This record gives sequence, C-alpha cells and structure tokens, in this order.
Amino acid sequence: MNTPVRLALIGCGNQMQKNLIPFLQRTSQDYMPVVCVDPDATRATYVQTVTRAYEWKSSIDGVDVSSIDAAIIAVPPQASAELTEALVRQGVHCFVEKPAGPSTDRLRKLAAVLGDTPSNVRVQVGFNFRYAEAIRQLHALTSDVRNSPCAITIEFYSRHPSSPQWGVDTTVESWIRQNGVHAFDLARWLIPSPIARTDEHILVANDPDHFLATLTMHHTNGSLSTLRLGNQTQRFLVSVSVHAADGSVYSAPSLENVVLSRNAGMPSGMQLFGIKNLDHGWARSGFGPELEAFLTACSRGRSTGPYPTVDDALAGSVLCDKVLAGIQPLPRPACKIA
Ligand SMILES: NC(=O)c1ccc[n+]([C@@H]2O[C@H](COP(=O)([O-])OP(=O)(O)OC[C@H]3O[C@@H](n4cnc5c(N)ncnc54)[C@H](O)[C@@H]3O)[C@@H](O)[C@H]2O)c1
Repeated sequence: MNTPVRLALIGCGNQMQKNLIPFLQRTSQDYMPVVCVDPDATRATYVQTVTRAYEWKSSIDGVDVSSIDAAIIAVPPQASAELTEALVRQGVHCFVEKPAGPSTDRLRKLAAVLGDTPSNVRVQVGFNFRYAEAIRQLHALTSDVRNSPCAITIEFYSRHPSSPQWGVDTTVESWIRQNGVHAFDLARWLIPSPIARTDEHILVANDPDHFLATLTMHHTNGSLSTLRLGNQTQRFLVSVSVHAADGSVYSAPSLENVVLSRNAGMPSGMQLFGIKNLDHGWARSGFGPELEAFLTACSRGRSTGPYPTVDDALAGSVLCDKVLAGIQPLPRPACKIA
C-alpha cells in the first residue's frame, strides 16, 4: 500500500469547496488532509469539517511544512504565486489553480524559481479543461490532423467574472486573465506551434462589464486558432473544433461529446465519443482527473504524462497581454449629475 499524500488545502473559498474537494473525495489515490488554510475562519473550519483535516490555520506561516507532502492552492492570483514559491522552496509539491499569478512578470519570476528547484518537486497548474474527457478524446483523435497545418475554433463563454476582481481594473481584463486564459491554454495545447501574430476584435459591447470578443492567432506552422470569448452568456459553454486541411471537422460541441461533423468534405455527424449527462462530472469537467494525476505523481513520483506547468501559465499570460493590448478599453458611462 502507498503512503498517503499528506495535504494542505490552501484557500477554502468557492473553487476549493465546489470543484476541488468533491473530486478529491472521489479519487482512488491515498491522501490525508492535514491542514486547511484560510484567513477566513468560517471557510477554513468548514473545509476542515468536510475533509476531516487535523487542523486549520489562518496563514501558511502557521503550517509545519514537515507535516505535509503537497498543497492544493485555490487563492486569488497574487497570493497564488507567493504561496507556490514559498512552498516549492521548501520541497512541497503544489497544485495551483490557474492563472497561478497576477501578471506575466510575476509568473516569469515564479518560473525562474522553479527552474532552480529540484525536478522531483511537482508544480501543476489547474488548467482542468486539458483533462476534460471530451476534449482529451478530441485531442487524441486529431493528433495526426494537428501534425499538419489545420484550423481550430474554441468558443469559451462564462458569465464570470462580470465585474472587475482581484485587483484588476476592468471586467474585460479580469475575465481574460482570470478565466479566458483557459481558452488560450487549450489553443496552445492543441497547436503547440509558436504564435506569430494575433488579431483581436470586440464583437459586441453593450456595457463595460459585458463583452464578446473574437481573437485569431496565426501559428508559425501555418495553423490558425480562432477563439470566441465572452461573458454575454446565460450559462457556461466550452466548445472546440479541429478543421483538417482535407475538409474534415472534428468537434466537441460541449464537454459531453465528440462528433466527426464533416468527413473529408462530406456531411457526417458520426458520434465518436459521448458522456451520459447524469454523471457526477468527474471526467466531464476534468477536475477529477487533474487531481488524480497530481496525487499519483506526488505519491509515487510516477510520470503521469505531460501536465500543465507554470511555463504554460506564463505562455498563457503573455497571450493575455497581447490580446489586451489589442482590445480598446470600453469607456464606463459617465455618471449623470442631477
Ligand atoms: N480551474 C477553474 O476552472 C477555476 C474556477 C474558479 C476559480 N479558479 C481559481 O481558483 C482560485 C480561487 O478562486 P475562488 O473562486 O475560490 O475565490 P474565492 O474568493 O471564493 O476563494 C479564495 C479564498 O482564498 C483565501 N485566501 C486569500 N489569500 C490567502 C492566503 N494568503 N492564504 C490562504 N488563503 C487565502 C480567501 O480568504 C478565500 O477564502 C483563483 O485563482 C481562481 O482563478 C479556477
């Protein structure tokens, strides 16, 4: 039997409570929650109760690092980079939620620290859509197609954030850096070829807190990524298509299925993969498999294949910078003076 991975759960807010702990509790890996950390005592003690961790602390300064092997970090971006850096320096494996840092400069500094860290310390970034089953299947099914120049389309719509958060001035910047970065990561994962040029276009802009943007990224190998992003939506939606040069189109229209919608130019509609819609979301969301991969690597030092790193978060942040530089800020309406 493996020795359980001794865990610190750091940042006991929405993401930890709703998307990480429910999947942690379903993992097949042995783990032992040791400490919950959050300056908000109500949240920390709630997570302590749910996970049966031994204790809670208001800061990692109070954590005995020799009592943990790994940390799951779900805090706002500024604190993400600081906590990851501090823990990694002490040899603690870290799973850190995207975007893993507030800016390109901060992520570059974190990446440099990790470059000087022993390679057996794992730092995995929470780009969960790489682990979502339908997108994983699409990735595997199109590996040959993507070896040649192709075109991909990613639609990524989410209502959140719908106001500026975590120290960022505008909703568009908050949304792109703190959420839309998922779509950039997916585009880079599907087409690793470097990006030579980006074009940006705000399609709809009703008010400063809502937007719909179309971005194109021209890769040096001749591939094209088109991203449609925004928070003008009633519900979360991610959809990915890969267009091959021979006229075939492979699509994951949602996180539930993969379809060969066109076969060498002929209409097809053949379902290649499907998930029952009453599952508990383990494979659909990717939240379960990403934690399973992290714990497996921590407990056995075993390779679980490529995983999202701080270098990926850094590359995503560079794209956020490029895109934001090309999007004109939307003026806030002037206040009416009575
Ligand atoms: N992968 C995804 O799809 C996904 C989805 C949602 C959020 N996230 C990420 O998860 C992170 C947290 O988001 P959230 O929605 O849970 O935010 P939240 O505000 O609900 O929770 C964050 C928690 O971190 C705590 N915190 C702040 N600084 C801390 C510190 N130094 N030490 C310990 N705790 C600290 C806060 O008190 C709060 O309870 C963000 O980085 C966000 O981008 C990822």
